[in-house]
Amino acid sequence: MSQAEKRERYAEAGLRIAGLVENEPDRIARMAGLVAVLHGAMPHYFWTGFYRVVGDSLVIGPYQGTPGCNRIGWGRGVCGTAWRTGETQVVADVHAFPGHIACDARSASEIVVPVKDRNGRVIAVLDVDSTEAGAFDEVDAEALERLVNQCVAGAV
Ligand code: SME
Repeated sequence: MSQAEKRERYAEAGLRIAGLVENEPDRIARMAGLVAVLHGAMPHYFWTGFYRVVGDSLVIGPYQGTPGCNRIGWGRGVCGTAWRTGETQVVADVHAFPGHIACDARSASEIVVPVKDRNGRVIAVLDVDSTEAGAFDEVDAEALERLVNQCVAGAV
C-alpha cells in the first residue's frame, strides 16, 4: 500500500473512531472502538490490540486477531520495550528483534505505540502485528500516535 493510501485510510478511520468514542469516558470502551475500526480498515494489520499497565506487567486489553499472550513484563519484547522507553517501536523484522515475544508465528513485523497520561507516564501500549515484513513506517507511527492521544489517552 502506498503511503498516500495509508494516510487516506487512517484519516477515514480516525473520523469513524472519533464518532464511536465520542461521549464515552471509559478508557477500555474507547480502546475497543479504536481497535475494531483500525483492524477492519487496514489491510496490513494481522493482530491489533492494547496491553494495559497493571502493576508490574502489561496485561492484555481489547484486541482483534488470534489469541494473544496475557501478560508481558517491563522491558520484555517489543511491547515491554515501548513501555520502558516511552518511544514508539517500529520493527521491520520481528525475528531480528532481541527478546521478541511470538504470540503467533505468522507475525513478521510489528509497531508498538505507547499511550501516556497527562503526566507523561505510560499507561498502555497499542501493539499491531503484520504477516508482511516491513509493513509499518513513519506514516503508521504518526497516525497511531495521534489516534491514541486523541481517542484513548485523555479518557478516565
Ligand atoms: N510480539 C509482542 C507480544 C505481543 S503479541 O505480538 C500479540 C512483543 O514482542 O512484545
